Amino acid sequence: MQQPIAILDSGVGGLTVCKEIMRQLPREKIMYFGDTARAPYGPRPAEEVTRFTRQIVEYLIQFRPKMIVIACNTATAVALEDIRSRVAIPVVGVIHPGARAANGRTQSGIVGVIGTEGTIRSGAYEQALKQLSPSIDVISLACPKFVPLVEQGNFRSRETQEVVETSLQPLKARNIDTLILGCTHYPYLSDTIASVMGRDVMLISSADETAREISTILHDRNRLTRDGELPIHQFFCSGDPRMFRMIAQQWLGEQIELTPVVWQVP
Ligand code: SIN
Repeated sequence: MQQPIAILDSGVGGLTVCKEIMRQLPREKIMYFGDTARAPYGPRPAEEVTRFTRQIVEYLIQFRPKMIVIACNTATAVALEDIRSRVAIPVVGVIHPGARAANGRTQSGIVGVIGTEGTIRSGAYEQALKQLSPSIDVISLACPKFVPLVEQGNFRSRETQEVVETSLQPLKARNIDTLILGCTHYPYLSDTIASVMGRDVMLISSADETAREISTILHDRNRLTRDGELPIHQFFCSGDPRMFRMIAQQWLGEQIELTPVVWQVP
């Protein structure tokens, strides 16, 4: 049986990474877990996010994945190393790929990062960017109101426009030329974010780079699936399956096989 790539997120955000993996690596089978019952992770303490991430990894590991992708910036920021130390397969996060992409594209060396409170508080993007380029200027901003809008499927309403406009005001006068969408939920709002920031600011989503990194790792280990039938992916969510299915099918542009998972929500 083909070993899948396991992807996890607090909810529907990781589907932005999932879609890019499906595009770049169409023969790879995906098992996706969205912890929608406990989203958002952003305001939660680091220990709690780490505990939830471990629990999802334990669930997904039963399917014998060849790799785990933590497609959630908040979980990557606080739990990546912990998960790496617990499993014997490669574990990829979304922060380093996003930082690499931004570092490669900025002309001015002034980069903005938006993310959840947890991600911004961790300083993970700043660290990753400074490692790549010590003189880079990083302006970070938490946007806690974005994830709940996305989890409700509220991508383009007047309310969304107002929330995005108000939240991004502090970045407008900072001369950034590149803005990292440091939360995998934010690409759902990228049209609105782009219109607020203006055409001189390039938006970076880590989905692209993360999928490329996955491809490189699998290639180097000779674990890429190159032929055979197109796989049937499997999706799991811990919250409202109707909302998850609606957002996933709209975003991915195809029907999905979804299994609701019931577990205790603290
Ligand atoms: C969240 O659950 O708050 C967002 C997930 C992320 O940081 O990508």
